[in-house]
Amino acid sequence: MDIAFFSAQPYDQRFFDQALQRDDACSGLQLTYLAPTLCAETVRLAQGFEAVCVFVNDQLDAGVLQALANYGVRAVLLRCAGFNNVDLDTARRLGLFVARVPGYSPEAVAEHTLALVMTLNRHTHRAYNRVREGNFMLEGLLGFNLHGKTVGIVGTGQIGLATARIFKGFGCRVLGFDPFPAEAFNETGEYVTLERLLAEADIVSLHCPLSDGTRHLIRAETLAQMKPGAMLVNTSRGGLIDTLAVIEALKSRQLGALAIDVYEQESQLFFQDRSSDHIDDEVFLRLTTFPNVLITGHQGFFTREALEQIAEVTLANLRCFVEGRGCENGVA
Ligand code: NAI
Repeated sequence: MDIAFFSAQPYDQRFFDQALQRDDACSGLQLTYLAPTLCAETVRLAQGFEAVCVFVNDQLDAGVLQALANYGVRAVLLRCAGFNNVDLDTARRLGLFVARVPGYSPEAVAEHTLALVMTLNRHTHRAYNRVREGNFMLEGLLGFNLHGKTVGIVGTGQIGLATARIFKGFGCRVLGFDPFPAEAFNETGEYVTLERLLAEADIVSLHCPLSDGTRHLIRAETLAQMKPGAMLVNTSRGGLIDTLAVIEALKSRQLGALAIDVYEQESQLFFQDRSSDHIDDEVFLRLTTFPNVLITGHQGFFTREALEQIAEVTLANLRCFVEGRGCENGVA
């Protein structure tokens, strides 16, 4: 079976090639690694393949899915947890198999969330540069104790729960909001309404999926409900935040700090080296001017353990498809 692997990076190839070597059942599989992102302009590259393997910024809208089906592609393998980039109704109508990799390493994203909070709070990124330049002044590096602070976890699924447990270890009081509460969360925190969470939390951390119901969950109205000066962290999906409203809240100082690993328009920027190029995204550039904003380029998942798991589960999903078995990770 031939699979077109879109948005391929060198590390994808390393981890997938290793997983293929470990798994005898995959001997007939041929992965072709393609650097371009899958979209209307690049979908023709899928001609002649039976399946495509895609990542977070590949765009599988109705037109792209129809073109894939016309070329004879029958399976879409998402090597990520989120599936907001796939038009599932169209996929179902076309009879395409679509599967994802849920919960490959909740700790990878949870630990990155804490890395962002700790960096932004204790300014280690600024301290690193200062010390290298021989500047040992502390002014401007003042942080706060996490111990005793209130943290609000929006979405208490696998990543939200892992993040809540780490915050609890720091001695934080943990509040959670989720329309589908999980029993396990009650050992770590207390479920409250979203309004109460926003009003009481010193740090609000987003861990729910992007859907029509959660798009711009954080907007002018909800930002105004937050505790003045609170920190907002988003390691989930960029579309959860109305970025322009967040910029206004930073300017008015209603929002005290922002840490994001995801950005609404990230597909134009992330996973590429743009260091010798002009960046045209004025909104993104405005964000980078705030000293209390920290941005990483969607690297929450990026640990050895997570990449191994992603490769193994993606190949297991593919085997389900090839053998015509039901797939517990199927989303269409
Ligand atoms: P999950 O499915 O285990 O948990 C998501 C939780 O969000 C569920 O409990 C669900 O009930 C809840 N939820 C749904 N609608 C909600 C709403 N309106 N308000 C509050 N909660 C709501 O998913 P998991 O594995 O915890 O992943 C969460 C998200 O993290 C993914 O959807 C993905 O977008 C993102 N992610 C980011 C990565 C990164 O590298 N930065 C890597 C992996 C996932």
